[in-house]
Parts: sequence; C-alpha cells; structure tokens
Amino acid sequence: MSAQTPDLHVPDLEARITPGLEVVERRLLEAVSSSRDLIDEMTRHLAVAGGKRMRPLLTLVCAQLGDPERALGDKVIAAATAVELTHLASLYHDDVMDSAPTRRGVPSAQHLWGNNRAILAGDILFARASQLIASLGPDMVASHARTFERLCEGQLNETFGPTDGVDRVDFYLQVLADKTGSLVSAAASFGALLAGAGSLVSDVLAEFGEKVGVAFQIADDVLDLASSGEQSGKTPGTDLREGVDTLPVLLLRRREAAGTIDQAGERILRDLSGDLSSDEALASVVEQLRCHDVLGETRELARTWADDAVATLAPLPKGEPKKALEAFAHLMVDRLA
Ligand code: IPE
Ligand code: IPE
Ligand code: MG
Ligand code: MG
Repeated sequence: MSAQTPDLHVPDLEARITPGLEVVERRLLEAVSSSRDLIDEMTRHLAVAGGKRMRPLLTLVCAQLGDPERALGDKVIAAATAVELTHLASLYHDDVMDSAPTRRGVPSAQHLWGNNRAILAGDILFARASQLIASLGPDMVASHARTFERLCEGQLNETFGPTDGVDRVDFYLQVLADKTGSLVSAAASFGALLAGAGSLVSDVLAEFGEKVGVAFQIADDVLDLASSGEQSGKTPGTDLREGVDTLPVLLLRRREAAGTIDQAGERILRDLSGDLSSDEALASVVEQLRCHDVLGETRELARTWADDAVATLAPLPKGEPKKALEAFAHLMVDRLA
C-alpha cells in the first residue's frame, strides 16, 4: 500500500483489503524488477517514486462484492497488480508525449534517460502486465488488450483533435473516456468478475469506473493548473506548454465561439497562442486561468461526472462496498476542494 493511497472512510472494509493492497505492492515491485541493473533502475523508477495506487484499490474494493473467499485471491491480486502496471506503462509513454519534466515528485523517465529508453521501459511494463493477465485466461487477455487499445486511441485522438463539425468538448470527453476511463473501468470490473460477483455486477462497475475515470481526468486538468508542483508531483501547465487544450481552455474557446467570452478570457486565449517557452510566460497564463471562473465551471463538470458515476451504482445492494465506491468517486474530485 502506498503512503498516498486514499482513505475511503469505511474502516472495516479497509481493514479487510489492506493486506491485499500490501500483497499487490510486493507483486508490483517484483514485476518492475528485472535481472539487469540498468534496466531495473528504469523500470522501477516510477513505481518506487510513489503514486496513489487508486486503480488496484478500486479492484480490491469491487472484489468485495463477490465471494468473500475469492475477494483477496490470487486472481484478484494478479489483476490489481496488472492494472497498476498498465497504468505505469502509460505514464512512461505519456511523459514522452507531453515532454513532462517531473512525475510522482521525481524527474520523469524521459527526462533522465531520453525518449527511446523511456518508451521501451514502458513497453517492458506493459509486457509484464500482459504476462500477469495471461494467467487469468483468454477472456481477460482480450479485455485487457481492448482496454490498452482504447487507452492508446484516446492518447492518439488527443494529439489529432476533432474532425471538422465535431463539437470539441464532446470530442475531448470521449478522449478522456478512452485514455483514462477505460483503465479505471477495467480496474473496477476485473475485481468483481474475478471474485465471482457475476456479469450484472461487473457491468455496473464497468460503467461506474468509466465515469469515475472521466471525472478524475477532468479533476486532473484542474489540478494541472491549480496545484503547485509539490502537491501534484508534476509540473504545472505542462499541457498548455505542449499546446494540448484541456477542458478549461476548451470551455473558454466555446465561450469565444458563442460570443460570451470576457476580456480576461480573450487575453488567456491570446497568450496561449503566443510563445510559452519561458517559465515566466507559462506561469503568467497558468495564473490567469487560476483566477478565471472557467476553472469553477470545469470543477462543476468533474462533480457532475462523479455524481453520475455514483448514480450507476443504484442496482447494487446497500453495504460497505457500495459506500466505499461512493466515497471513491467523490474523493476523485474532492481533491479539488
Ligand atoms: C495520472 O494518474 C494520470 C491520469 C490518468 C490523470 P494518477 O493521478 O492516478 O497517478 P498516480 O498513479 O497517483 O501517480
Ligand atoms: C494521462 O493523461 C493519461 C494517460 C496516461 C493515459 P495526462 O497527460 O492528462 O495526465 P498527467 O497530467 O500527465 O498525469
Ligand atoms: Mg501528461
Ligand atoms: Mg498526456
């Protein structure tokens, strides 16, 4: 269990799953270690640096909806570990795409070792995730492959942007569902399925995870602007510098198109189209966005997605797992408060 793993305020359930999270942590550290010291250092880099481990946490919470005998069984643990490994692999690749200097409070892999090596280290982690999933049977292999396919499609579509005539905000929300929702959805449904909760429950959780993932990624876009580098472990404004329009900027562009944008918003869009290579220029536009009410609008959208996620849980029985999932959804966006 990582020091940053969120507290769900359901103490009995958390006491039950904590030993499972500890096993996942050990399996994860084994999986990121290889026989060669130089490769080892790269593949272990982000796993040992920190991270919230919220995807394995979700897998173990969802497994609590199944057979208690299987809820912390080998299959659930393997899936939880594989989901975090898949996430880790995507972070190595994402930091290359975003030229991100820091991640989890340490220099990113591409910053330390260059793009080629960071990409290959990510590939190794993805291969290790696949090896674990292979022990769970062909259906899980197919499901995991589809998840990673969607994740890559989302990342790619983010770089391409929408085709003419497609609403940019709608397109962006689909990007978020693909790049982030897909894996959170898999984390949730795998836990339930492998603990024998049945397909009705796992389908509900797949939908829940997808929506929570979108809420979480919208919240992350706000945090990219509103938090300090010390809080997030990442460099504020990274997306802006790379020319990636995240939701606050897209909402400003929508206001511009509708003719409802204010002067402060116009200035932000003007500055964004200028040169952001100096730290001062980037800090100035981040500060302007922090002060603009479009950030509040983005926060509200994150909350709406989290509320929708909670609403999908309606068919599940009342009890601790459901409470924990509700807390999980709200925590993902309340880190904005
Ligand atoms: C970061 O995910 C990437 C996103 C999908 C927003 P997390 O915020 O879960 O990152 P770690 O695992 O805690 O570092
Ligand atoms: C990360 O997206 C999503 C994946 C890794 C699939 P971002 O680029 O928005 O996330 P951060 O802010 O770097 O964590
Ligand atoms: Mg990024
Ligand atoms: Mg990115």
